Amino acid sequence: MKSMWNLRYGEDHEVYGAAPNAFLASVADRFPTGGRLLGLAEGQGRNALFLAARGHSVVAVDSAELAVAQLAARAEGEGLPVRALAADLEDFQPAACDGVFAIYAHMAPTVRQRAYRAAWDALAPGGLFVLEAFTPDQLGRGTGGPPRVDFLFGAAELRGLFPEAQFDLLEECEVTLDEGAYHSGLAAVVRMVARKPSAPAALAG
Ligand SMILES: C[S@@+](CC[C@H](N)C(=O)[O-])C[C@H]1O[C@@H](n2cnc3c(N)ncnc32)[C@H](O)[C@@H]1O
Repeated sequence: MKSMWNLRYGEDHEVYGAAPNAFLASVADRFPTGGRLLGLAEGQGRNALFLAARGHSVVAVDSAELAVAQLAARAEGEGLPVRALAADLEDFQPAACDGVFAIYAHMAPTVRQRAYRAAWDALAPGGLFVLEAFTPDQLGRGTGGPPRVDFLFGAAELRGLFPEAQFDLLEECEVTLDEGAYHSGLAAVVRMVARKPSAPAALAG
């Protein structure tokens, strides 16, 4: 898988376009001002760069070394506070943060569930987790996403993974993507804005 991603990132410096993901951009002002953000499977870092330019400090993780090197060079060139890390999310241990973003972070079920949960656990109280990903309805559409149904998931999985979350938004919908050649056209996605409660919920009884 890693070699496939490195090959793809060798094609173009903006495989998913230069702009951030449209959904992430539309909710970006909900992240705490100047927050420490963590980007999961962030590739060449279009979202990380966008958020860093808005005053956040960003750690961006991806296993494709080529994309990580491209992001590190671009962040340095633009003087933006992005730390690009080459690491496998299978066993990555995140540091404490105020926000998480996972944009098309598709992996095998056990890997993504562990990685998403570890990121959630690293979130400070009141922190935000923003996600957009393809659902199983996307399979075979040819407008983006992995060709494996087990790499796809929907709202039910996220609700189960984050039982304590306050969901500002959790929905499955169709969107028209315009994110470079690999994400282009009508697509079936899940979108989430989940907030970690500020204080532990009171014990019942
Ligand atoms: C569709 S791309 C999304 C890139 C970026 N989030 C964006 O929106 O432009 C999926 C990314 O997941 C990364 N990835 C896949 N499996 C991974 C793993 N186990 N650990 C870390 N990154 C992984 C790939 O290298 C690739 O960069």
